[in-house]
Amino acid sequence: MSNKIQSLSGYIHEYQKSVNEPEKFWARIADSFHWQKPWDNVLSWNNEGPHVKWFENAKLNITENIFERHLFTHGDKAAIIWEPNDPNLANKIISYRELFELTCQFSNAMLAQGVKKGDRVIIYMPMIPEAAVAMLACARIGAVHSVVFAGFSSSALADRIIDCEAKMVLTSDGNFRGSKNIPVKAVVDEALEKTSTVEKVIVCKRTNAEVTMASGRDIWWHDAIREESKINTAESLDAEDLLFILYTSGSTGKPKGVVHTTGGYMVYTQYSFENVFQYEQNDVYWCTADIGWITGHSYIIYGPLLSGATTLMFEGVPTYPHPGRFWEVVDKYEVNQFYTAPTAIRALQAQGLGPVAPYKLDSLKVIGSVGEPINEEAWHWYHDHIGKGNCPLVDTWWQTETGGIMISPLAGITPNKPAHASLPLPGIQPIIVDAEGNELKGNNVEGNLCIKFPWPSMLRTTYGDHKRFKETYFSAYPGMYFTGDGAKRDHDGYIRILGRVDDVINVSGHRMGTAEVENAINEHPRVIESAVVGFPHDIKGQGIYAYVICDEDGISNEILIDEIKNTVRKIIGPIAKPDEIQIVPGLPKTRSGKIMRRILRKVASKDISNLGDTSTLLNPEIVEQIIAGAQIK
Ligand code: WT7
Repeated sequence: MSNKIQSLSGYIHEYQKSVNEPEKFWARIADSFHWQKPWDNVLSWNNEGPHVKWFENAKLNITENIFERHLFTHGDKAAIIWEPNDPNLANKIISYRELFELTCQFSNAMLAQGVKKGDRVIIYMPMIPEAAVAMLACARIGAVHSVVFAGFSSSALADRIIDCEAKMVLTSDGNFRGSKNIPVKAVVDEALEKTSTVEKVIVCKRTNAEVTMASGRDIWWHDAIREESKINTAESLDAEDLLFILYTSGSTGKPKGVVHTTGGYMVYTQYSFENVFQYEQNDVYWCTADIGWITGHSYIIYGPLLSGATTLMFEGVPTYPHPGRFWEVVDKYEVNQFYTAPTAIRALQAQGLGPVAPYKLDSLKVIGSVGEPINEEAWHWYHDHIGKGNCPLVDTWWQTETGGIMISPLAGITPNKPAHASLPLPGIQPIIVDAEGNELKGNNVEGNLCIKFPWPSMLRTTYGDHKRFKETYFSAYPGMYFTGDGAKRDHDGYIRILGRVDDVINVSGHRMGTAEVENAINEHPRVIESAVVGFPHDIKGQGIYAYVICDEDGISNEILIDEIKNTVRKIIGPIAKPDEIQIVPGLPKTRSGKIMRRILRKVASKDISNLGDTSTLLNPEIVEQIIAGAQIK
């Protein structure tokens, strides 16, 4: 089965078909999968609800499309190549047949522990093959997985468990990450003190750290599978049954559970994977994301495995034990497609060419970027020194909510243009609108990016709160999905993503809501009010800058700032820790009490040349005080 586009004219042709007759187009793509029962309708869509259903009433199991469908042709082919954190320890190469058996066995273990179709299962695990097995086993039995990045704090984990009323948690004793050894099980124990729905915890042994096992609740992974058979019949799911929930930050409140369903997600992740990366059957593909993010879901696990690809899973970090580790791994496995984030590229670029020089990198055919806008300097460094000037670079724009890559060059097909996500994939109808929602047609336009027609892997709702879904994505411009990003279509019709236009900041490719960080800061007993903004950061893309009003009790600012940083680390996790905290006497507010963030962003960026109109401020004098405190030269 292949729906692979072969040429630029082929792309244009497919794109036109996908817009003119979307249902016919997607029915043809979906035909190459194994459905237990065919659909009645390809798409039913009402933009009032809004409600969307793809492949209505079809029955399937996504793992049958990964395993049973591929076993005859490539049972012995490597499904996962696993490279451990420590390069001196043994790697693992797991064939499709072996991965199938592990998945079936763990499916049986979860069933034996009382998990049923529809139950929610939290996965809080390191990048080890068992994490992939955990996701696939959930999908096999129809349990809804929610992977939580294992760097999140116990309270962030507890919030997610509570929101989805999880019945089971899958975790490990500890995690290896670079030189660190993180006691993960203890984090789970702490989280579970605040929750009441979890009945069982299955713990995979990874670091041999000492852990406490709660009797009746906690069970070792190896004990759970010991007596279980390696044969399991896949549960039959409706195309619109939930496949997973993934929590992500927005501009307001707590992270929301983005809901993805089975049929459409399957079709789109496979289709986009094979087309964007132009994967060929004997290639080795490597995406460096963590399975805690959507990139790990769609382009380490589902997209590649549905395509019968060999996907590399890396437990470690780019700089351990040395800053050439990525390139060493590329050479070791002769990686053909390499997909990473701009922040990693900038961090490695900062090390100079020394760490790159010892490696050949001649297996690479395609290199990719995801997670944030890639600046031109990083684009050229990546293209010239890693791609050696002869690998197409795919700058892939998409979101947790979109499920799959939406705007990207197709490798080797779409002419490359630095820092441009370029053109939409077939089936995707992006438009640029002005503030009033008028479509800006033609080239040389700039505005907000919306998608005007549903696509198979779009989110269906936010878990437990359909109203929030409607308000967040469909109320800015009624009837259209609003992405939260600004974009520009240039004179060639190529799209360039300009970054978020809402109160979301992108720190090293991780999405943070400013309100969420403020709420965490405000938990510190000495904090009265705070305002968080992003500022340009050489490596992270954006850094977190917090303006904080504190009470007056003497204690040095330095100690206080450290304490506030630690509060955020405890409440959300290390990724949300502010880079800069400035204690201020007040915040610039309008007469209606709104914080004028525009000014705060300018000061944080050390750009005070043109602060704009401050005459509507209730307290204009505060601006001078803040500037003085920011010590801008
Ligand atoms: C936001 C989504 C889905 C990938 C991982 C991040 C930004 C993502 C690009 C890109 C410019 C990008 C956007 C988007 N973003 N890829 N190639 N160029 N910006 O997923 O955490 O849901 O964040 O990441 O601002 O809205 P996410």
